[in-house]
Amino acid sequence: MAEQLERRTERAPARFGGLDYAPAPEATDHVQLRADHGLLIGGRWVEPASERRFKTISPATEEVLAEVAEAGEEDVDAAVKAARAAYTKVWSRMSGAERAKYLYRIARILQERAREFAVLETMNGGKPIKESRDVDVPLAAAHFFYHAGWADKLDYAFPGRRPAPLGVAAQVIPWNFPLLMAAWKLAPALAAGNTVVLKPAETTPLTALRLGEVIQEAELPEGVVNILTGAGATGAALVGHPGVDKVAFTGSTEVGKAIQRTLAGSGRKLTLELGGKAANIVFEDAPLDQAVEGIVNGIYFNQGHVCCAGSRLLVQESIAEPLVDKLKRRMATLRVGDPLDKNTDVGAINSRAQLDKITELVASGEADGAQAWQAPCELPARGFWFRPTVFTHVAQSYRIAQEEIFGPVLSVLTFRTPDEAVEKANNTPYGLSAGVWTDKGSRILDLASRMQAGVVWANTFNRFDPTSPFGGYKESGFGREGGRHGLAAYLDLS
Ligand code: NAI
Ligand code: MG
Repeated sequence: MAEQLERRTERAPARFGGLDYAPAPEATDHVQLRADHGLLIGGRWVEPASERRFKTISPATEEVLAEVAEAGEEDVDAAVKAARAAYTKVWSRMSGAERAKYLYRIARILQERAREFAVLETMNGGKPIKESRDVDVPLAAAHFFYHAGWADKLDYAFPGRRPAPLGVAAQVIPWNFPLLMAAWKLAPALAAGNTVVLKPAETTPLTALRLGEVIQEAELPEGVVNILTGAGATGAALVGHPGVDKVAFTGSTEVGKAIQRTLAGSGRKLTLELGGKAANIVFEDAPLDQAVEGIVNGIYFNQGHVCCAGSRLLVQESIAEPLVDKLKRRMATLRVGDPLDKNTDVGAINSRAQLDKITELVASGEADGAQAWQAPCELPARGFWFRPTVFTHVAQSYRIAQEEIFGPVLSVLTFRTPDEAVEKANNTPYGLSAGVWTDKGSRILDLASRMQAGVVWANTFNRFDPTSPFGGYKESGFGREGGRHGLAAYLDLS
């Protein structure tokens, strides 16, 4: 395994499953990279009072793309005050129909600039261009369109209640869907009449900053959206600021718990969307080829940097062998490498820290006695990469069956009866998502009702839609995002 993990230097054309592919790189000349970025506070780009900056890189090449500001406490204070002023003077007084116009504008500009956003997302985050192009950017626009539609219909969304905005929302987001998470958080907050201070993740600030430009282009009143770049200390200063009325966080369970402690007793509203360890459950009557596609999409999509990734495969014992064989054959055809190449299926790991975490957990799986198999593929010389990996002979107690790996690593377990499948699926500290593959509708309904998971997909996986509430049980957090449920999290309904 140590040898298998060794980085190779050879580049394309690579051979995948016996086929040669010529490189098909997406053009990048339409994306103007700015050398440095300020903070968006009160409608203007300003230099950080902290006078600190940090570099942001491409995880596929380790090249520096830009420098961004690191917001300190003074910057956080200025941003929260700007958001408060915008809230009291403008945004909370504006009619819902007026607010909707701004959201529609943002959605349309995102569509017009879709290519630029997709390329920038892929450069800064390492995800394959076909995902940022076909999933992240269209869904980000869809979230603005969807919530624009609610802005003037809040009384209809919550009949008999008097929905009122909460005030200033602090939103801290992760690096796995940088633009989509920003849209996912901003759209409902703004539709409901709140103003926002948003903090993107330190490894992927560039699309959130560019969204700041879109927000200016859409002529949102100054201070309605403020964007602060920085790392954990900036996030902690923001969520702990007394001028904040609502906190929304997506990220690690560890930080989620720390934020919960900070806010305890403050009366401020909090939603947390944390990690996951989803089970993808395949019964013997499932269409196996379709299931294999679902399993691959479930765990190798976005390099497994997905909180709801199907990171455990629970397969009925009678079909375990043929299913795992099919899966390995399919994995051998996955194209790993340059995320800007339109043929790439699996891109770069987002950061060296994340690669180290994946490598450490995979080593623990081997030490525990599980058997690893890796897709045979060449890895680029520079950047952060991990081969798609599948573990068999996995016991429920192993760390690879309990902990979130957040990488392209699947753990296979088996079961005999539906009861055993439910018990094993629920046997982790998490409860974000699950998948069921079977021909029987009654079995889908039965399992869905017994699984402790906020989302249960049936005969599909990793499907997202702004109309559908998303969120977890147990250590996966609380509160829902998307749909009417997500809107409610930004409103006072008393
Ligand atoms: P993280 O939770 O440290 O970072 C997420 C966001 O929180 C970033 O914007 C970060 O700057 C901010 N942050 C960090 N410390 C903070 C604090 N004390 N107060 C307020 N904000 C803070 O996640 P990290 O370290 O990037 O990843 C660690 C693990 O977390 C991953 O390996 C994965 O297992 C999980 N994770 C889960 C995500 C999800 O979608 N639920 C997303 C990202 C990571
Ligand atoms: Mg962290």
